[in-house]
Amino acid sequence: MLKLTEELSDSLDQAAALIRLSKHVVALAGAGLSVESGIPPFRGPGGLWTKYGEPTNLSYKEFLRDPQEWWEARFRNEDRPGDPTYELKVAVDQAKPNPGHYAMVEMEQQGFLQYVVTQNVDNLHRVAGSQNMLEIHGNRTWLRCLDCADRQPRDGYHFDSLPPRCTKCGGIIKMDTVMFGEPIPAEVLLACRQQAETCDCMLLVGTSGTVNPAARLPIVAKELGATLIEINPDETSLTPWCDIVLNGPSGEILPLLLNRLQNGGDAEPGNRA
Ligand code: OAD
Ligand code: ZN
Repeated sequence: MLKLTEELSDSLDQAAALIRLSKHVVALAGAGLSVESGIPPFRGPGGLWTKYGEPTNLSYKEFLRDPQEWWEARFRNEDRPGDPTYELKVAVDQAKPNPGHYAMVEMEQQGFLQYVVTQNVDNLHRVAGSQNMLEIHGNRTWLRCLDCADRQPRDGYHFDSLPPRCTKCGGIIKMDTVMFGEPIPAEVLLACRQQAETCDCMLLVGTSGTVNPAARLPIVAKELGATLIEINPDETSLTPWCDIVLNGPSGEILPLLLNRLQNGGDAEPGNRA
């Protein structure tokens, strides 16, 4: 249980005041947000890459070399315990949104948060109810056409032939999740950059800020004058750029922040005026 020190309490007040003064608040979320849903992060203590080593940048190349074999292997269900893909799948299949996800939804509904850019592919933002959202690394419950970028839910999709082909353009279909070495779909990346350029405040929630282009977004925002608020139990490469740092797990910090936003100060948030 998080200890609400005087320092943390002051920082929460400052963060709430800053958000109330801001007109366009964007959250950049990372794996840390889902830790309290039982999903391991990638880096740091308990991280998948810490445990198994960082994968090579080749998975997209391998997919492109033989999409049919990639899909067939998928249906053979070859992932086993001791494999990071398996560990992640088991954790995500059981996961439910935590109070951090729900606090972000409430912040959005109450006009304190305009957009979420998430690096998480676990679908938990959608399950919780976030509306304005960009999934920069895709969503594991969706499929995407490599040619026309059309997305559709994997659930209910009929895999008549492998590799599956797009009904709109005939292109090869892959999982929507962005693989290592795969470029971010251009439209999504553009929309994320627009959010970074438009926001006047960005919340960095549970991200180590190590994977580009996502990690560049806060820097772009900061260089254009936005303020940065970090929510993370540990220091990250983005910490030195931040105006306010809220040290602690996001499942506890975000509800505390929401509470301050709802109850503290008389001014209406800028975007509601
Ligand atoms: P990382 O695993 O790199 O970082 C997780 C961050 O969450 C760390 O800074 C932790 O300190 C922090 N953290 C841990 N527990 C937390 C908690 N309870 N509350 C808040 N923060 C907590 O995850 P990302 O930054 O998301 O790429 O990693 C970026 C990308 O690297 C991922 O999207 C993934 C991976 O390779 C793809 O899947 C394409
Ligand atoms: Zn297509």
